[in-house]
Order: sequence, then structure tokens, then C-alpha cells
Amino acid sequence: MSKRPLTVTSGDDARADPLARERFRECMGHFTTGVTVVIAEGPGGPAGATINSFTSVSLDPLLVLASLSHTSRTLEAVRVSARFTVSVLARGQQDVARRFSRTREPFPHEDVSRSTDGQLYVRKALAYLSCRMHSLITLGDHDVVVGEIDDMGIEQGHPLVFHRGDFVELGLGEGWSGGR
Ligand SMILES: Cc1cc2nc3c(=O)[nH]c(=O)nc-3n(C[C@H](O)[C@H](O)[C@H](O)COP(=O)(O)O)c2cc1C
Repeated sequence: MSKRPLTVTSGDDARADPLARERFRECMGHFTTGVTVVIAEGPGGPAGATINSFTSVSLDPLLVLASLSHTSRTLEAVRVSARFTVSVLARGQQDVARRFSRTREPFPHEDVSRSTDGQLYVRKALAYLSCRMHSLITLGDHDVVVGEIDDMGIEQGHPLVFHRGDFVELGLGEGWSGGR
């Protein structure tokens, strides 16, 4: 593997360089993540997107963020409704992740349920967070959506994991304590 450092300049130069983008994708592929689905209900009905750019932000108040492409229909639904859920997918939910990563497809109603506060989330997900939009920050070709938590649900199980462009399973021993 090449150790050559890559200098990326901001602005048009970085956007115009497809090699830098490809290398960036490859670099980020080494950052192993969980897999989530963001769902929002806009005037045209529900929309959902598989995303891995999800993280917690703050404990007081309870905030999370997700980064959605400007081409995303889900982003439009989040903007309009100012509400969204994030569902953390469980091991075995690869097909759900794939269904929510196809844009312009009919919304997969069979994959979702209503949370206790009435929002759509992915059935059998490991966890869901129901959010009110706190802020929306435009950064490059994505918007970072920050949500304040209204409601949460948690199930038992193992996570679906995304690594180097593929879904993988964690080889957790039964005695693993979750790092606590
Ligand atoms: C594992 C995985 C992670 C993804 N992460 C993101 C992400 O963080 N942000 C994003 O905008 N799209 C992400 N995508 C792509 C979206 O799922 C895809 O563009 C989807 O079609 C968007 O749907 P929409 O246009 O209906 O909102 C990811 C796809 C996969 C398979």
C-alpha cells in the first residue's frame, strides 16, 4: 500500500480531482461503522436512506448527526417535516440496508413500524432514535442534519457492520462485556 501523503486543497480543485475522491472513499472505507437508516415523512410520503455517516454529538441536550447528500430525497423530507428517525440495523438486515440505498424506488412499507411517538422506523432494528431537527448545516455536497432526541427504543442483538464497501459480521465472543 502506498504511504504517499495526499494533500487535498479545498474548493474547486479538490472537487475536480476524481483520483482524490476515489482515494478518500478508500481511506474512509477503513473506518468501520454501523449501518443506519434515516426515515422522514414529507408531503409526498415517507422517504428513507441507508447511511453510515451517523454519530452522537451531545448529552445535554441529547443530539445526534447524520450527513445526507443534496441528491437525497430523504434530506428533502427531513427539511420539510423537521423530524426524522435513525434506526440502527441488526446483523442479518443487509437486505434492508440495500433496499434503503436505492433511490427512486417505492418506499419499502413492509420494513417499517411506528415508534411510540408515532414516527416510522425500521422493524427489528437494534435501536431507534426519534428526532426533531435541531439544525441543518450545508457542507460541500451534503447537509449535516443535527437532531434532538424525543424518543428511543432498544432491542437485544448484534449490529450490522460496514467495512471497506461491504457488510460484515462481528465475531464477538459470548463473554464480551461491551467494553464497560
Ligand atoms: C452502507 C451505506 C452507507 C451510506 N451512507 C450514506 C451517507 O452517510 N449519506 C448519504 O447521503 N448517502 C449514504 N448512502 C447512500 C444512500 O443510501 C443512497 O444514496 C440512497 O439512495 C438515498 O436515498 P434517497 O435518495 O431516497 O434519500 C449509503 C449507502 C450505503 C449502502
